[in-house]
Amino acid sequence: MKLKVAPSFLSADFAHIEKEAKRCEKAKADALHLDIMDGHFVPNLTMGPQIVAAINRSTDLFLDVHLMIYNPFEYIEKFIEAGADLITFHFEATEDIEYTLEYIRKANCKAGLSINPETDVSFIFPYLDKCDLILLMGVKPGFGGQAFIEPTLDKIKLLRDECNSRHIYEGGIVEKNEAKQRNLNPFDIQVDGGVNFEVAQKCVMAGANFLVSGTYLFEQKNMADGIKKLKSL
Ligand code: DX5
Ligand code: ZN
Repeated sequence: MKLKVAPSFLSADFAHIEKEAKRCEKAKADALHLDIMDGHFVPNLTMGPQIVAAINRSTDLFLDVHLMIYNPFEYIEKFIEAGADLITFHFEATEDIEYTLEYIRKANCKAGLSINPETDVSFIFPYLDKCDLILLMGVKPGFGGQAFIEPTLDKIKLLRDECNSRHIYEGGIVEKNEAKQRNLNPFDIQVDGGVNFEVAQKCVMAGANFLVSGTYLFEQKNMADGIKKLKSL
């Protein structure tokens, strides 16, 4: 399985946004993960569309915008204008899940859905053919540098099994055998929070194909080595 790796910009030095974004690009990241927090859905505040736009001007990397905010629908247009390529919002943050996913996709942006560690993974099964990615939180959202919550691994397994049994790949549901013939990419299962090399190994074994990592990657002397190591799993 081809793995994707995204550094979480929350661990970057914000005094040097452009330099840090370029560092991730040079290190051959597949995407840049941007954590948006509102001080309500999570007990922390980070950046808004203006900073996302500044990052977008600093790099050609795919911008993976992770909204940890209530009423995500109200801010989607602003983040798309700012340059988001993927917008992921939380299952726990809105009642309008289907509508919000549709709206993001209609704007030619990829749509992701995320769940907190305490949320049952089966709750998001009805949306698998309506989104491009599921983000499973490996920590309580809000802060970088926390320890990975191990039961997340069971959720990854259950989710990958569900995708396999319903033939859900990147791009949606396909007929039996078609996926093999067309050599389709797997449905994106992203893990975020507490991901270091050891945790990444377990997540990939369980079926994840998209790793987000903040502390671990930004602490590397050479981020390219860290990304290469994760991608070799
Ligand atoms: C947590 C954020 C994560 C976080 C990951 O709420 O969604 O993206 O920055 O950081 P580490 O890898 O340090 O746990
Ligand atoms: Zn995140």
